[in-house]
Amino acid sequence: MASQTLTIRRPDDWHVHLRDGEMLRRVARYTARQFCRAIVMPNLVPPVTSVDAAAAYRDRIREAAGEGFEPLMTCYLTDEADPAEIARGFEERIWIAAKLYPAGATTNSASGVTEIKRIYPALERMQSIGMVLCVHGEVTDPEIDVFDREAVFIDRVLSGVVHDFPDLKVVFEHITTSEAAQFVQGAGDNIAATVTPQHLIINRNAIFAGGLRPHAYCLPVAKREKHRLAVRAAATSGSPKFFLGTDSAPHSREAKESACGCAGIFNAPFALESYAQVFEEEDALDRFEGFASEHGARFYGLPLNAGTTTLERNQVIVPDEMEGLVPFHAGETLRWRIAG
Ligand code: DOR
Ligand code: ZN
Repeated sequence: MASQTLTIRRPDDWHVHLRDGEMLRRVARYTARQFCRAIVMPNLVPPVTSVDAAAAYRDRIREAAGEGFEPLMTCYLTDEADPAEIARGFEERIWIAAKLYPAGATTNSASGVTEIKRIYPALERMQSIGMVLCVHGEVTDPEIDVFDREAVFIDRVLSGVVHDFPDLKVVFEHITTSEAAQFVQGAGDNIAATVTPQHLIINRNAIFAGGLRPHAYCLPVAKREKHRLAVRAAATSGSPKFFLGTDSAPHSREAKESACGCAGIFNAPFALESYAQVFEEEDALDRFEGFASEHGARFYGLPLNAGTTTLERNQVIVPDEMEGLVPFHAGETLRWRIAG
């Protein structure tokens, strides 16, 4: 009989949106309950571009999340990114990575980078100090089909960055395509990727299932089934290049269920349960700990967490609404749940 429990070293979330103010207070505890540490994205309004802003934001997160959770901060890269400020924040251990949003690619990315060469001085410095570049990998060219934006980004932007900065550590965030999985697999050890639960579980049909489904809409948008299968194979392969990053991105129900609904899936409350189900389906539960608790920490050069988390094979019904937000899997029954 299959084991009824699954115990792993305490996991981390290498990509999450915790927001600020009232929303931060609503969502922080879900991530803190599941994860020991999380890399917190800087796409606030205004974006987190200075060391002081990141330190203040970190304090607010600690207060909202409570004891025992460590937020790891990121710097939002703009065309004016200052290599000295980026390096200072890294050396003072305020932030551990910088995030590249192509301008206009997603939520609060208006201040993002308009032309990759503008941040070459910052990338040069990051390469020399060993600071990770987190990448939202989509082109924004309106001529490019929405479903092709990730693959085209590899050709137009990412290949060049990897070529020009051969030692830069890069995380290709929330990959959604076979092209992205293959690119990461074929690149050096300094190139890795995060994978969300939704991109392992839904394909693009979910956005149109019987009507327009705003809660299945995120960016990068889910792709065809063959891409979901390629991303699943990569994530469950045991390769240290792939690790957990939920991209949990809460928006109010009103902002999602709108004539111009926001991109983002709020998956924090049941993220581990969701990933565990995928690893079980792929007969890869023995590789779940590496993906959830080891590969990311090693890539970022951080210690592995002490302590363990146990999941038990036990049905859990996901509520239709939590804190006024609609969670991923709303109304569904999942097969694993966190014990205790
Ligand atoms: O779906 C998304 N939501 N993708 C992103 O890249 C950003 C995020 C957000 O902040 O809402
Ligand atoms: Zn994100």
